[in-house]
This record gives sequence, structure tokens and C-alpha cells, in this order.
Amino acid sequence: MGREIKIFDTTLRDGEQSPGCSMNLEEKLEVARQLERLKVDVIEAGFAIASPGDFISVKGIAKIIKDCTVASLARALPKDIDRAWEAIKGATAPRIHMFLATSDLHMEYKLKMSKEQVLEQATAMVRHAKQYCSDIEFSAEDASRSNPSFLYQVLESVIEAGATVINIPDTVGYSTPLEFFELIRGVKENVSNSDRALISVHCHNDLGLGVANTLAAIQAGADQVECTINGIGERAGNAALEEVVMNLHTRKDIFEASCRVDTKQLYPTSRLISSITGVQVQPNKAIVGANAFAHESGIHQHGMLANKKTYEIMTPESVGLAKNTLVLGKHSGRHAFEDRLQSLGYALDKEQLDLAFEEFKKLADRKKTVTDRDLEALIHQKQIRTPQIYQLERFVINSGNTITATATVRLKKQEEVVEEVATGDGPIDAAFKALDKLVGIEFSLEDYSLQSVTEGKDAQGEVIVKLKKADNIYTGRGLSTDVIEASVKAYINAVNKILHESEADEGGES
Ligand code: KIV
Ligand code: ZN
Repeated sequence: MGREIKIFDTTLRDGEQSPGCSMNLEEKLEVARQLERLKVDVIEAGFAIASPGDFISVKGIAKIIKDCTVASLARALPKDIDRAWEAIKGATAPRIHMFLATSDLHMEYKLKMSKEQVLEQATAMVRHAKQYCSDIEFSAEDASRSNPSFLYQVLESVIEAGATVINIPDTVGYSTPLEFFELIRGVKENVSNSDRALISVHCHNDLGLGVANTLAAIQAGADQVECTINGIGERAGNAALEEVVMNLHTRKDIFEASCRVDTKQLYPTSRLISSITGVQVQPNKAIVGANAFAHESGIHQHGMLANKKTYEIMTPESVGLAKNTLVLGKHSGRHAFEDRLQSLGYALDKEQLDLAFEEFKKLADRKKTVTDRDLEALIHQKQIRTPQIYQLERFVINSGNTITATATVRLKKQEEVVEEVATGDGPIDAAFKALDKLVGIEFSLEDYSLQSVTEGKDAQGEVIVKLKKADNIYTGRGLSTDVIEASVKAYINAVNKILHESEADEGGES
């Protein structure tokens, strides 16, 4: 019905740029696969020239994704464009996405270039990219604070040079919905060849208007919108993909536009991102927050019982939200387990399924009722994805309020079994100190958080630790009905990521 809006996901580029959201190669590949399942149109896989790691992940994503366009970001410079092309040329549908600022402020202080130079460089670099790739996106960075006539001139010129998508970013989240609507209208009316390119928008959320500005742009005629899962991104983040998509879906009467996203994959995708990054979604976050579909007040509950539409404008099922119901127990078989995972939107390969089933059996022994939330947490455990260089064999803790806590931890590394004892300020500190002795590498503990997955005395505790080595942050996750075990597992998970990355670095770029 109506126009089809293209959804451009930049979780792996703008999203990954936000503090504490960095991901390793395996995690990025997993996110890309999930974005393909979600059916976004474009996956911005990264910024190929930013680092060898970025290059490898963009290249890896370009290779595995078949059903979406794969883009790499590049500055409007030959070396960036060449590197971007090198990374994405294996994609089924590659796109080079280049940017150059057009606001007076950015041109004078950041680029130190005149208007004429910016116009000339933008045009020349689109031509340069066009010799490699037919699909070229040009972003006029800080467009919303640019002089409109200069912006129109640049856009017209890059379209003439071969740009197929022109992106109008609100880079610093400064615009307001009415103003942004007029800007997009202005582009459509004043860029004489605008009908030869898709008009895209990219809105940051500094004033909390990222989604509102994106929707205003759609109403003004934008064809493509750039968003991130959970709204992660630079500073206050980007327009949240799940919010934009559910607005289109729920208010078809207003937007008269649709997109090809499978809305049932929104919740699993959101959970995957928060699980990988360790950045939790606020409970009252629209669409994917824990309370987004919770009805607490008696009046609301009464209305809901009479007719769900009284207080529900979209169903939890439509965004793929699993009901927190008792689903499986210790007698459940592998088929039932696999079935339930499928209906929750998870597609695991055989190896992942074997590991997950083993974990599920252990959990079912310790916890009477295994709910959908438990299963989600279990599937998101990073141990399932990170090579287990070190594995926990066992630990013993001696602790109390009148004695110094002591921990003995035994780990397995391939066939070798190693054990250490340490004391500390409490049981978790003692266990972490024993682990430090065992792995013998330098890093610091930057963050530790513990939360319960479900209610009840036998609820699983989920621990997230962030370890810092050099300038990189490694997120580890551990899950157990015992919080000390969850902490030890989370620490080992993060250590395994550090070791895995240094092994990959030694292996070199491919
Ligand atoms: O915010 C911005 O302007 C960007 C561009 C590179 C598209 O992220
Ligand atoms: Zn941005």
C-alpha cells in the first residue's frame, strides 16, 4: 500500500561507533545475519578504512549477505573509496556510501575548504566511485545546518556525476520536525534532477527528535531512512529502527507508506543487540522496552479484558515479543526445544543448537520452570558464539562477613587443567583475582552489572562485565542461577574474546 520506504540500517557503523557498543567479527556477522532476517533493505556494514578489523568485518558481511544491499562508509577521498570498494566488491548488491560536510561551520573549521572546493571534491569523488560501483550514496554531512542553496547545488552536482542516493543527515540532531519536513520538500523542489536519485535521511537524537524528524521526512517524500536497532549511535544515538517501522505499520492512514521489514523480528533483533553490546534497553523504551506492552493499572487491565484495543494500538506478537510463559521443563526433548526456539524467531545451526540444548538441560535441572525469557537469555549467551579458549571446570568459594573471601578456580585450556587460589574483597573479587592469575594478561575491569532474567527465587542471574585492554572494551556475559557462577562465566567470556582477537590479529588480515 502506498510508497515503499527503504530501510537502511547503520547499527554496525553509526551504532557501533557509540561508547561501549563495539562488537567483534563473529558478533558483527551474527548481527548482519539477523538484519537480513529482519529484511532491512541496506546494511551499512562498517567504515572499511577505519581499521583492519573494520575492513575484515565489512568484507565478511559482504560475502555472506544475499538479500540486502551491503554498504561501506567512506570519506570523499580516493583512498577511502578504494578501500570501501575492496571490502564490498564481493557483495551481491554493493554500495559505496561517501560523505562530505556542506555546512559553513564544518567547511571552515573541520575541512578547511571553500564552498567551491567542497563542490568540486564531492563531484569528483562520486565520479571516482562510479568507476567501481553503480550504487553510490552521497551524504552531505551536517546538511540540516547547511545553507540550503549550497546544499541544493551540491546535491544536483553529485546526482549529475552518478549518485543514486542523496542522504540529508541531521548530523547533530538539531532540526525540528516541521523544519526538517521543509528541508526535504526544499530538496525535492529545488534540486532539478532529484527524481533521478533516492532521497534519504539520517537523523540523530540529540534533542530526542530523531524518530519524529525521520517520520516528518517520510511525509515530505523521503524514500530511504537510516536508523539503528535500539537507537544506538553517536552521542544520544540515531533514529530507532523499531520505532520508525512500527509507526509506518501502525499509522498507515497517516504515512501511506510501507516497508519490507518483518516486524516479528524486531524484538529478537533488539535483544540480540543489547545482549552483544551489554547495553540494556530502558524499560519504558517504545516497542522493545520491558514495559512497552505491560498494563499495570487496574483500569487498564479491566479495559484490556473487555477489548484489547482499548489500550493496545499494536500487539506484542506483531513485534515478535515472546510471552513470559512456562514452556519447557527437564523432560522436554530436543524437538520441543527446537520448535520453541523457532517460534521465538531464532534460527540456530546444528552446532549452536547442540550447545544450546546442553545448556538448557543443565538449566532445567536447576530451575523448575524454563520460560521464554530464560530461553532468550540462554541463546544470547556469548559462550555459544565465542570460541571457548578457557572453560570453567569448577570453583570453590569460602566467604563470610567475618573472614577474608577466598576463591579456588579451575579452568581447562584445551587438554590442560590449571588452578589458582586468591583472596579478595568478597567472593566475586576473590574469584576474579584467581582468574587474573590464571590467564596472566593485563586488562582492567571497567564495568560489572547483575540483573535477574525472570522473577522468582530460582531466577537466573545475568552478569555483564566490560574488560578494557589497550583502548578496546570487551563485553562478557554469564548466566546462571548462581550469581557467582554467572560472574565467573562472564569474566571468562570476556577473556576468551580478548584472546580470540589477539589470535585473529596474529593470523593477519584476509
Ligand atoms: O551523522 C552523520 O552525518 C553521518 C554521516 C556519515 C551519514 O553519520
Ligand atoms: Zn550519523
